[in-house]
Amino acid sequence: MPKETGGLSLDGQGKPLWLSLELTYRCPLKCSWCNNPLDFEDYAAKELSTEEWKKVLRESRELGALQLGFTGGEPLQRPDLEELVAYADSLGFYTNLITSGIGLGEERLIALKNAGLKQIQLSLQATRADVTDALVGARAHARKLEAGRLIKAHGFPMVLNMPVFRQNIGMTGEMIEWAAGLGIEYLEFANIQYYNWALMNRDELMPTLEQVRDAEKVVQQWRDRLGKKMTIYFVIPDYYEGRPKACMNGWGAIHLTIAPDGVAMPCQEARVIPGLEFESVRDRPLAWIWHESPLFRKYRGLDWLPEPCGSCAEKEKDFGGCRCQAFLLTGDAGNTDPACSRSPRHQVVQDAVDAVARPLRFRKPLVRRAAGAMSTAFLET
Ligand code: FES
Repeated sequence: MPKETGGLSLDGQGKPLWLSLELTYRCPLKCSWCNNPLDFEDYAAKELSTEEWKKVLRESRELGALQLGFTGGEPLQRPDLEELVAYADSLGFYTNLITSGIGLGEERLIALKNAGLKQIQLSLQATRADVTDALVGARAHARKLEAGRLIKAHGFPMVLNMPVFRQNIGMTGEMIEWAAGLGIEYLEFANIQYYNWALMNRDELMPTLEQVRDAEKVVQQWRDRLGKKMTIYFVIPDYYEGRPKACMNGWGAIHLTIAPDGVAMPCQEARVIPGLEFESVRDRPLAWIWHESPLFRKYRGLDWLPEPCGSCAEKEKDFGGCRCQAFLLTGDAGNTDPACSRSPRHQVVQDAVDAVARPLRFRKPLVRRAAGAMSTAFLET
């Protein structure tokens, strides 16, 4: 009998309801907050073929997956995206494209609509071209705006995603105004999570608590003004919450990510954790990986939780937080997420917050996601 917690099955007998297919890590942009691996360029030659992705779709649908996000990298870099959308649609998936908008011309948009694509999540970093282009390291702003206009013109439900950091948080009101003018139904202010490239740039990217509170007030004013016309999501970053996020709704509970090389993971970041045994859909049936593999069982459920999580009244809400963050900030993925104020290692998060609150004596340039940038960045620090 599956162990149920808050409506979720946590022992692997449940279904991977949310499926993320990272079709490729290739991307024309160079975002400093990218959550792709630092060695992303090593995956280009190992990407699954069209037929291999179709097998993943069949196997995951058999496991009960329903919601499907095509993501990356930039999934539009794959010329077989339309074919994969059509195949997923024929299997009964609700398909969602998560895109920067670069490469989304009208012809492609019509082809995706005809293939059965249901929803598009478009990212936009700022309302001004000079800011967007500087942040993503390419002339992208005008193309993103045009993609947004086309998505609406072709009747797709659309989520506008604005990753939030120090450099753009002051544009919260302008962004809402722009999105309202375009008739966008969902606007998500995504306070970024600090993994991989974002962690490398954390001191430069993290907004202060004051900035976050100011932006929250602006969001509330607009919510009052727009009513039901637009749903605006704004989540306080876990560094400022004092409580960890319920990352992935629990490890191996409902989320399944397939990396470009076919490795199946409980979250998009799991490969930052050393010592785990990663399995590829090229070598193993997906059902075995989901239900039985040591990777998915490692932190599934509540029985493995360390103290103070094991005896915490909130363990069924947050599952001890994020395993990847626990590793990156404490060196052990089995520790309580240090974003929790009850973690014995919470000081590492507090130190980061304190560092951001102090006036910076000088600004370091952001390290952009780019091949070879990792070694440069480490040499500089
Ligand atoms: Fe991997 Fe949170 S990102 S568990």
